[in-house]
Amino acid sequence: MAKPKSYFFCSECGYQSSSWLGKCPECGKWNTMQEEVVQAVKTAAASRGTVAGAASRPKLIHEVTTSETQRIATHCAEFDRVLGGGIVPGSLLLLGGEPGIGKSTLLLQTALSIPGRRILYVSGEESEEQIKMRADRLCGEGRKDVGELYVVSETVTQRIFEHVEALKPDMLIVDSIQTICTESIDSSAGSISQIRECTTEFQRFAKERAVPVLLVGHITKDGTLAGPKVMEHIVDCVLQFEGDRNYGYRLLRSLKNRFGSTAEIGIFEMQGDGLKEVANPSEFLLSQRDENLSGCAIAATLEGARPMFIEVQSLVSSAVYGTPQRNANGFDFRRLSMLLAVLEKRCGFKLGAKDVFLNIAGGIRVSDPAIDLAVAGSILSSNVDIPISPRFCFAAEMGLSGEVRPVSRVEHRIAEADRLGFEKIFISKYNARSLNKKRFGIEIVEVSVIEEAFRSLFA
Ligand code: TYD
Ligand code: MG
Repeated sequence: MAKPKSYFFCSECGYQSSSWLGKCPECGKWNTMQEEVVQAVKTAAASRGTVAGAASRPKLIHEVTTSETQRIATHCAEFDRVLGGGIVPGSLLLLGGEPGIGKSTLLLQTALSIPGRRILYVSGEESEEQIKMRADRLCGEGRKDVGELYVVSETVTQRIFEHVEALKPDMLIVDSIQTICTESIDSSAGSISQIRECTTEFQRFAKERAVPVLLVGHITKDGTLAGPKVMEHIVDCVLQFEGDRNYGYRLLRSLKNRFGSTAEIGIFEMQGDGLKEVANPSEFLLSQRDENLSGCAIAATLEGARPMFIEVQSLVSSAVYGTPQRNANGFDFRRLSMLLAVLEKRCGFKLGAKDVFLNIAGGIRVSDPAIDLAVAGSILSSNVDIPISPRFCFAAEMGLSGEVRPVSRVEHRIAEADRLGFEKIFISKYNARSLNKKRFGIEIVEVSVIEEAFRSLFA
């Protein structure tokens, strides 16, 4: 038997070295090298190289039939949207997210609702009874089991492949990759070399059998997927399930998708009996307020192709301490500082001596730059203590010189604002040029600089 050998792996990028290094030469991070004892145990499966052992043969591209890549619809509109229309057979998906965010719930619920498919759900974290208890919670009594769902509690890949041989499922779900280990190398489950090896085994299996594999992955404290970056390179799709645990909303984002766009997001709400799809996010993200309160402004943002209306709230008050405090929830802090500097310079407000707190309602994070004008509006509204009507909304980016810049797909935003019954939408003058305004019932206010918007709102 070969002598056990220890290697050092970078926990960031998976770089392998035979000696310890302070700084990873691959990704340049310090103190990331971890020692692992790796012993190659040559098993039959490992030495075979491939699961089926089938020889490959190059084909002409037009000879490759695509009938086999008929996607499997998940029967969950939000999930399908993020995937780009369903799960591609033979693909390897990774679903990441913080503990307790609902990854297991999402996959179990999806597995229960795909009709006419045989699915194997492997859990390394929960026993079969626990999975059954969760399944009973999901949709309670009214649930109709439409497919054939098998569950097994197992952590060794070789056993999992034995179950797969026996069952021949149409889809394999593995919860979670950090609890799974392979016999072909000798290190503990969750270590970098195990994660890498297991992911490779699942990928090989998925490609050879044209069976999609959905892996659940944990997320570390700093929000990156636990395990080396190489895992993200191996898989076909990386989905991230996120949300504020204090709110019921969950967003499913795609960070990488070989078979679709990464711009789409899926929105769910966690309820007592599982995750509910949210088809119309704007209607519930806007707080139902009767009174006019200063510091609130509504932004018409787009997430993927879908318009989403969100409420920006801010509070501007005189700084109590010498250094003013700034805080942003759900919005980029540096962008807030930039907008404050622009408002100070262009509108002449002495915001430098004020505390500014900004919050996006609903625990949502927004990166669409079209939210800028709403952010500026809400800050100014709080500063002068004059409310902005809840029937107004904003869709424009702001430039460093205070100019109001155009945003993408403005017609979409206007049409949605119109549909939701808004009275006015503020957009950039440059966006309005190519717009057929007669199509919309809503009043379109064109602004070119921030002072104009300010005058029109608070004059
Ligand atoms: P879970 O899927 O176990 O999270 P993960 O696998 O990402 O760690 O979800 C756990 C949380 O979801 C738990 O805190 C309880 C909540 N939950 C509900 O609110 N309703 C439900 O029907 C279920 C199954 C879970
Ligand atoms: Mg779980």
